[in-house]
This record gives sequence, structure tokens and C-alpha cells, in this order.
Amino acid sequence: MKTFVRLTLTAAFLFQSVSAFTQEEGGGKRLYQSYCTGCHGSGGKGDGPAGKSLPVKPADHTDAKKMDQLTDNHLFMIITKGGAASGKSSHMPAWGGVLKEKQIQEIIVHIRGLSRAGNNSEKGVSKDRQGGN
Ligand code: HEC
Repeated sequence: MKTFVRLTLTAAFLFQSVSAFTQEEGGGKRLYQSYCTGCHGSGGKGDGPAGKSLPVKPADHTDAKKMDQLTDNHLFMIITKGGAASGKSSHMPAWGGVLKEKQIQEIIVHIRGLSRAGNNSEKGVSKDRQGGN
């Protein structure tokens, strides 16, 4: 009987953490798919179709080493004001006129998730692709 209770608790715990994860992903992922993947790629590797024709390669958001050096504040600024305002390429557009502050913060949560997802196996990428259009 004791074992049964413990198993049930474990299952409940697992279920809870999975749904917390999906919730966190929700909005930011959708926004990212709509506005960013053209250049950054659906998995965030910087390999989107529009990015290929640019002289500067769009950032690889799955590169944890690089991403960990960027503060949330920096990410917020570059997404809001574009690359040029942060001394980066102007091929990274400014989104402040398109997206609300809250939406940009949701995208940042999503980007952070990309570099944390275990240094991205191909599996993680193809899962992301399902939402793409
Ligand atoms: C038109 C293509 C394009 C689109 C669309 C685009 N980006 Fe970028 N992005 C770039 C390029 C090019 C760079 C690399 C700039 C550089 O290295 O100088 C970049 C760099 C970045 C960086 C890295 C900044 C750094 O300091 O390394 C972040 C973060 C970023 N983009 C986020 C986004 C987000 C979020 C969106 C969607 C809201 C988006 N980008 C949409 C082209 C694009």
C-alpha cells in the first residue's frame, strides 16, 4: 500500500512539472515562431530561410555558452531597439514598435529555454518545427 501511495505521488509530481513547463513556453514560443524563425530558424539555431541571404549570420540561440553571457537586459534591449542600437548588425530588426514589453519578455523566456534544452539534440529541433508554418 505504501508503495502505491508513493508511486501516485511521483506521477502527480511529474505531471505537474510537465504542465508548468508547457505553460511557461506557450506565448513566447508562438511569438518566436511568428516573428523570429524566418531568420533564426524554428529551432533557434540561426538557420532560418531568410537568414541565409543575410551578410551576417543570425544569432544561434541554442549556443548556451554565448547565450549565458548575455543578460536579460541586453536581450530585451536588442529585441526592442534592434541590432544597430547595441553595436550589432542592423540586420537584426527592432521589434519595439511591433511587440509589447510583455511579449518581448515572453520571447526571452522562450529563447532561454532553447539554450537550456540540453544543447539541442535534433529531437528538440524537430519538435519545435511542428508549430512552424
Ligand atoms: C531579418 C532577420 C532577423 C529577424 C526577423 C530577427 N533577427 Fe535576431 N538577429 C538577426 C541577425 C542578423 C543577428 C546577428 C547580429 C550580429 O551578430 O551582429 C541577430 C541577433 C539576435 C540576437 C543576439 C544578440 C546578441 O547580442 O548576440 C538576439 C537575442 C535576437 N537576434 C533575437 C531576435 C528575436 C527575439 C527576434 C524576433 C522577435 C529576431 N531576433 C528576429 C536577424 C534577425
